[in-house]
Amino acid sequence: MNDRVYIFDTTLRDGEQVPGCQLNTVEKIQVAKALEQLGVDVIEAGFPISSPGDFQSVVEISKAVTWPTVCALSRAVEKDIDMAAEALQHAKRKRIHTGIGTSDAHIRYKFNSNREEILERAVRAVKYAKRYVEDVEFYAEDAGRTDNEYLARVVEAVIKAGATVVNIPDTTGYCLPEEFGAKIKYLIEHVDGVDKAILSTHCHNDLGMATANTMAGLLNGARQCEVTINGIGERAGNTALEEIAMILKAHKGIPLETNINTQRIYPVSRMVSSLMNMPVQPNKAIVGKNAFAHSSGIHQDGVLKNAGTYEIIDPRDVGIDTNSIVLTARSGRAALKYRLEVNGVRLPEEKLDQVYADFLNLADKKKEIHDDDILMLAGADRAHDRRIKVDWLQATSGIGMKPVASIGLDIAGEKFEAAATGNGPVDAAINALRQIVHRQVTLTEFTIQGVTKGSDDCCKVHMQVEHEGRVCYGFGASTDIVTASIEAYVDCINKL
Ligand code: KIV
Ligand code: ZN
Repeated sequence: MNDRVYIFDTTLRDGEQVPGCQLNTVEKIQVAKALEQLGVDVIEAGFPISSPGDFQSVVEISKAVTWPTVCALSRAVEKDIDMAAEALQHAKRKRIHTGIGTSDAHIRYKFNSNREEILERAVRAVKYAKRYVEDVEFYAEDAGRTDNEYLARVVEAVIKAGATVVNIPDTTGYCLPEEFGAKIKYLIEHVDGVDKAILSTHCHNDLGMATANTMAGLLNGARQCEVTINGIGERAGNTALEEIAMILKAHKGIPLETNINTQRIYPVSRMVSSLMNMPVQPNKAIVGKNAFAHSSGIHQDGVLKNAGTYEIIDPRDVGIDTNSIVLTARSGRAALKYRLEVNGVRLPEEKLDQVYADFLNLADKKKEIHDDDILMLAGADRAHDRRIKVDWLQATSGIGMKPVASIGLDIAGEKFEAAATGNGPVDAAINALRQIVHRQVTLTEFTIQGVTKGSDDCCKVHMQVEHEGRVCYGFGASTDIVTASIEAYVDCINKL
């Protein structure tokens, strides 16, 4: 019989930490429910002490999902653990994930401490978390670069203190697969009581080895792996959930299995990419646009004769829906609801009405509405309780003329108007807006991305602004680039 590998998904914590990938609570609940349907065992829902928004998201996700364990991150600090426990109070199954850096670099430079003191702090944190919950996971940050002998002492001590899972992160993505596999093997062979806990992998992809390292960990005895959808995460990202799930499915000789319903992989991948405004690279394994596209004549000929000649996975096994329905302005509310549900989104009736109205609006401007469009609409509840709203906007630009824009704003019920020129219509519109809202914000990032295809496509704009040391992210979407840009800018200002 195969051994079970537990899938710990950290899309909503390590993934959401990426600049620009922030989700609001409504969106996080959508993702959490989709992860539940996908069959993940643990959802790391956030880091409650880090912000009131993160705290609230852990509360709401705890209420929204039923069978996966909901996990909250904390440092090995009592007030962090208190907040994590409070945020998890409604979870049916709950876990506190606490830990501390164990590599010499972390001990010396981050904590100005020594190995013995760190070991004591680790044990104290686990014991403290145990007052609140039975299921406590300990992470030895930078375990990848931690000396194995010391790491084994830490792991043994935290298991004795009650840790049910011990996470061995390759925080910097430095390890080679052989080295990481050997580390897990060393712990299994040298830690007294190791059978009382599950060892977990948490690999980053800085050198492109996250998946290989995770597999090496699993093949050497780890039974939980920490992953994200599409491999998003700090810097070069984390191990991609879809890669591990499909490796274990495709390699029948490996006696390991997960609970992942692989046919949900593609819809969840699209949902996360769309809500987080994080495109998936076309050649990404399993979920990239080209992952199953055979372009050379030799390959096409082989696949037509027998798909097995060049395909090791059936695209249907990951939920690639070749008959994907395209919605139009004539599609009814039921068709929209069905398509959202296929994509793992179940909305309350009231919210569905709102999204349907937005859908009809968009369908008036754009002939075909694809899954990515409706996912974007379902996640877009940002515009509602804003202090500053755009009443109207007009921009003119072209060859041989100076771009000019005028704008009307509603600021807490008061009306303002301004006009300005700029080096393009977006610049002109932002200049006009700045005449009304005088805050000196610096635009530090500005990306425009088409949602699907075609010149009538909807575009998404992501912006990052800085004001007196504070950084805010904003988002806007429209079939009009200038409107989407101003929406994103206003979103940022509202957050400031
Ligand atoms: O990469 C890492 O070490 C982490 C820990 C907080 C688990 O994300
Ligand atoms: Zn991490």
